[in-house]
Amino acid sequence: MCGIIGCTGRDDAVDVVLHGLATLEYRGYDSAGLALVSGPQAAPELRVVKRAGKLASLQQAVEGQALPGRSGIGHTRWATHGAPTDRNAHPHVSGDGRLAVVHNGIIENHEALRSELVAAGVELASETDTELVAHLVAAERDALAGDGQAATTGSALAEALRRTVRRLEGQYALAVLDVHEPETIVAARYGAPLILGHDDDVSWLASDIAGLIAHTRDVEVLLDRQLAVLTPGGIAVTDLDGEPTEGLRYKVDWDVDAAEKQGYPHFMLKEIYEQPQALTDTLLGRLGEDGLLSLDEQRLAEGELRRIDKVYVVACGTSYHAGMVGRYAIEHWARLGVEVEIASEFRYRDPILNPHTLVVAISQSGETTDTIAAAAHARDQRAPVLAITNVVGSTLARQSDGVLYTRAGPEIGVAATKTFLTQVVATAVLALFLAQERRTLLPEEIGDAFARLEALGPLLEQVLAHDDRIAELAHHLSGADYFMFIARHAGLPIALEGALKLKEISYLHAEGFPAGEMKHGPIALIDDGGPVIAVATRSHVRAKLLSNLAEVRARGAVVVALATEGDPEIHAAADHVIGLPDVHELLAPILAVVPLQLLAYHVAVALGRDVDQPRNLAKTVTVE
Ligand code: M6R
Repeated sequence: MCGIIGCTGRDDAVDVVLHGLATLEYRGYDSAGLALVSGPQAAPELRVVKRAGKLASLQQAVEGQALPGRSGIGHTRWATHGAPTDRNAHPHVSGDGRLAVVHNGIIENHEALRSELVAAGVELASETDTELVAHLVAAERDALAGDGQAATTGSALAEALRRTVRRLEGQYALAVLDVHEPETIVAARYGAPLILGHDDDVSWLASDIAGLIAHTRDVEVLLDRQLAVLTPGGIAVTDLDGEPTEGLRYKVDWDVDAAEKQGYPHFMLKEIYEQPQALTDTLLGRLGEDGLLSLDEQRLAEGELRRIDKVYVVACGTSYHAGMVGRYAIEHWARLGVEVEIASEFRYRDPILNPHTLVVAISQSGETTDTIAAAAHARDQRAPVLAITNVVGSTLARQSDGVLYTRAGPEIGVAATKTFLTQVVATAVLALFLAQERRTLLPEEIGDAFARLEALGPLLEQVLAHDDRIAELAHHLSGADYFMFIARHAGLPIALEGALKLKEISYLHAEGFPAGEMKHGPIALIDDGGPVIAVATRSHVRAKLLSNLAEVRARGAVVVALATEGDPEIHAAADHVIGLPDVHELLAPILAVVPLQLLAYHVAVALGRDVDQPRNLAKTVTVE
């Protein structure tokens, strides 16, 4: 939520900050702004330009303005405190107009800080919590100068920020620029992501790697309660006492093309088409030559997983649906009871957890506040936590006892597609891994199931070949104002995911239901011509689902069925059929989700929606 970018050491700082904001816009698009230290060395000044609305408004405002400067910070906002207006847009500036702050997160003690500042006579220009930080840092910087105190790191700004963050409650990723130290950016983090980029004679920071990858692959994840001082000559990381320390430094292994549209009209469509490759990458090298499956990171004691007797999966949104699919595989293959929980609920419950409960936390970004808190809640009760995430070095990955990376590459469209599919694949791998540890499957059964997973890549290509037909169908259905998605068993999470995808990018009302529940209420919603989308692939409950289709059709629904190719009965039960290759029923969801992603995509396009940046949403939800 919110994107931060910063760079020092480039003569074209304004351009690189704007470019960085374009790559981070998917993190929030209520407003955008930038601050630069401009002007002659002898008399530098702070220049701030910010606009409500998408980045295009800022780009327009900047056009034609001479904005020289070698250091700059930028921000793209998902509004929390204060409406999305010019005034509330970041950067926020201190009363002397010489210091600017951008922020991602929420300062929870903002009311108390606001009262204190107002009582001290500070005039506030916005309704945001961030502006308070600008005033506090400036006051600390002035106090340090007044005391004549030497700063611990040589940067008074760093010491001022250190003193300020000690007073903040809540989450923050902060970057501060000050005319007094024109080529320095100071940054701090607690609970919201911030990545540093090392480069020759230039230093970078951004909320995520997409903002840096055009410039450097040498990145360092700033950790909680760390502070970084960026100058063109390099980056120094300290703790909050000013002691030198290090973040998590590594080389990014994907390149800039991965974060570009490459000729597709939208990132979402590109990412849907990347799924066969993403699936292959997620599985690559998982099964060793010894026939044994392994995790990417494993900090659990030997035998710990063997003693697990219960699994909780915690996640939000689409990742929650992936967890729901995973439940079927874990129960069936590893013979473990699984509860799947919405992280924002789980974190405030009092679940029965102990060292024999495995908590699987699923998060594409690895930065979703509720999922991280749910995992922490589990660890507090000594339950081991295993993360399934797409982001190396993310908070969730670092705070877990084991990690399975989904290796889907960057996902820029706000609607999760390839990351969902790879999460489902990862849950299947986890199910097999647990089966291996618990010896509930023979090694050859594990090998056979793994081979079936690998075989899905080419089958996904066959499913994608239905794109034109689905586009036609979407066009035909896009006039409907209410869509129902129904399914049973492992198809149910796919129905829920299909409904979520459609509502989030088309703004149409869509709901998913267990088909067996229809008669208990939802069937009252059916009226003439209303679309019902059914996941009706081969399974041990398919016959039951066919009866449910007959019931909704008899009441006037137009039924679109995703069915196994060659199913003789489905054509009599549905108005439109999309045929999918015949695979094991626990793996069928991996194919079935793709037509629903395409359907949502094409309906949204037909309605003229902003597919990649749907209203009110942001890619990474770092607030509660
Ligand atoms: O990064 P996460 O997987 O933790 O994000 C969780 C949800 O915010 C996310 O899955 C969201 O529901 C999707 N972007 C919707 O397509």
